[in-house]
Amino acid sequence: TRTIYTAGRPPWYNSAGQQVEPFVIGICGGSASGKTTVATKIIESLDVPWVTLLSMDSFYKVLNEKQHDMAACNEYNFDHPDAFDFELLRTTLQRLKEGRKVEVPIYNFVTHSRESRTKTMYGANVIIFEGILTFYNVDVLKMCDMKVFVDTDADVRLARRLRRDISQRGRELEGVLKQYSTMVQPAFYYYIAPLMVHADIIVPRGGENEVAIELIVQHVHTQLQLRGFKLREKLAHSYIGQPLP
Ligand code: C5P
Repeated sequence: TRTIYTAGRPPWYNSAGQQVEPFVIGICGGSASGKTTVATKIIESLDVPWVTLLSMDSFYKVLNEKQHDMAACNEYNFDHPDAFDFELLRTTLQRLKEGRKVEVPIYNFVTHSRESRTKTMYGANVIIFEGILTFYNVDVLKMCDMKVFVDTDADVRLARRLRRDISQRGRELEGVLKQYSTMVQPAFYYYIAPLMVHADIIVPRGGENEVAIELIVQHVHTQLQLRGFKLREKLAHSYIGQPLP
């Protein structure tokens, strides 16, 4: 990925020397729908040097002992809105939008907990924010300049989720199926799918949909140009004292 986190003087000035707010893309969709792939492909196609990718996973709440035991038995509901710290999410996104530095928690899916270290992130020309409930909180929703919903069939999502949870998230087949049928699937229909009404663009099939990704990228370019950015070379040279990526 070309995601670059910048330090020092912010590069988000337009050619007239005015500070410009980053363009925020919210990507919402069911678990294993391909949100991260869509985000990565947008970043690869964007001709913009400063892009920050923020994930909702970073904002899972810290569990108490009882909740931890439930998680170990696949009985804690990680798909319910209550599982997320929306206040921390809102303030973090707000700070990034203002071009300020943030410390973002790093989430570990194997231990169901935050790691002791954090990831330092900086504002950028474009901020991509992805997750299962990115359109759920009204303040967060308002901060998104473009809202994308990734709509991938449930059978494809379940197949991917099984493979991923077993190979990367330390889970077992029976546990993944139990969590899926009791919490992941119901929460999708109850909380996530209804958020589609907020979308500007619905992307069927996720990351494979090159046409949709190209349309999103074109829109971002147009919006950045309207805000006074000059793309690539000219943009890069307009940074005072900034090294070229
Ligand atoms: O990457 P993705 O969007 O699929 O991540 C969200 C999913 O991660 C949720 O559907 C939730 O069930 C799952 N999750 C989990 N264990 C955790 C935290 C989240 O299985 N500790």
